[in-house]
Amino acid sequence: MAREARKYSRRMSGLPLEPSAADRDELSGGILEFLHRWIDARDGAPASWPEPDGALIDSLLRAPSVDGIALDQLLDAVGRAADTGFDTAGGAMLSYIPSGGLYTAALGGLVGSVTNQYTGGAHASPGMTAIEESVVRWMVALFGLPATGGGVLLSGGSMANQVAVVTARSKLGDDFRDGVVYCSTRTHHSVEKAARIAGIGADRVRLIASDEHRRLDMDALARQVAEDTNNGLRPMMIVANAGTTDTGAIDPLNACADIAAASGAWFHADAAYGGFFQLTERGRARLSGIERADSITVDAHKSLFLPFGVGGLLVRDRAAVVEAHQGRGAYMQDVPSTDLPHYMEMGPELTRPNRGLQVWLALNLHGTDRFRDELDRMLDLAEHAAARLASTPGVELLDAPELSVVALRAAAGDDDTRRLLDVLVSSREVHVSSTTIDDRVYVRLAFLSQRTTTAIADRAIELIASAASAD
Ligand SMILES: Cc1ncc(COP(=O)(O)O)c(C=O)c1O
Repeated sequence: MAREARKYSRRMSGLPLEPSAADRDELSGGILEFLHRWIDARDGAPASWPEPDGALIDSLLRAPSVDGIALDQLLDAVGRAADTGFDTAGGAMLSYIPSGGLYTAALGGLVGSVTNQYTGGAHASPGMTAIEESVVRWMVALFGLPATGGGVLLSGGSMANQVAVVTARSKLGDDFRDGVVYCSTRTHHSVEKAARIAGIGADRVRLIASDEHRRLDMDALARQVAEDTNNGLRPMMIVANAGTTDTGAIDPLNACADIAAASGAWFHADAAYGGFFQLTERGRARLSGIERADSITVDAHKSLFLPFGVGGLLVRDRAAVVEAHQGRGAYMQDVPSTDLPHYMEMGPELTRPNRGLQVWLALNLHGTDRFRDELDRMLDLAEHAAARLASTPGVELLDAPELSVVALRAAAGDDDTRRLLDVLVSSREVHVSSTTIDDRVYVRLAFLSQRTTTAIADRAIELIASAASAD
């Protein structure tokens, strides 16, 4: 990133732990100036950088200073560190699942850290808990969960899936060895990982085939549930994808809910990627049935464009999560019962960052309609890209996008698809990633950053078209 003369003057180092008002001014002025310059530089910044040299990484690995280092030197190191790998905050990030990193939410994080109020127990900060609960209740209502519902903000989708698995498991009692988890072969690996961490054996996790559109094959699921039940096993949990990571495919949510209801299994929807498309008309229609879930994983750092570190689990019955996760030490005997939730009883965390403030500030500053419009724009970008790529010679599209991911391959086969991937990544104009589906390699274009413009999408398509025609 371009490093220009700084507007702040003093070199700060060796600061007392409680800086004076003048020092605070100087620090925040310097840091804000750095951040604004950094944001302005995103437009036109490379999508990725060459391998960093060893000297840079060694300098960043250095142990913290004993006496303190000047702020401008430290910001210089941050700028160099940020210019490595690929730019997950830039609009040209089309790989994996992008995360926009809204500035307003980042400011909410700063406010939450500076005020540093404790939100593990509602008694410590009823006000901050109410702020967090206002966004949880907004999410619960958005997904049509009932008044018994609730939720907790966690670090991301993996933690949310973990809390969901532990909650479903606890419904079976202490001996859950006969309990079975069902999910599709396209389910995010965090579900299998959560099951393993929760002590559920690999022989109790069924990876059910997906159909020709990468959605859970419902006949295969019904057969497997029936077979397991006949063999004396207990269906513990059915996990449906509300937007797979690979392609954004949405499993048949109503049919999953039917099988879960008939078999007594907990019905979990992993909407880490797809969840907040519920704000849009198209998304709501496609996610129909999600309101029947016992639990829903969401990730504000995906489809609400927040900076990394804010996901959540929403549940139909808040008491079920509390039953699975409560616990107190004698040193907590003064914690009273309150009308507001104690979030420490809804997951593994006791002390936790004030995540609610980030979501609350962003939602309230922009208004929820802005998020709806931006998610609609992401759906439009995917449709636009799919339409152009469908008529691009030498390119095969996998499916019409259900959400904002477009998966494609070179018609000539895997070697050419890998070459296509290489051309796109090494252009440093866009950053993309790949996946393997039914033994074939696919390149993915994922649209989920407020900084991704139609011009960036078009540039990706041009690069694909010229690489495909050169093959
Ligand atoms: C569908 C799905 N579930 C879960 C996760 C895990 O979320 P996180 O990376 O926030 O832990 C992801 C991440 O991409 C995802 O796409």
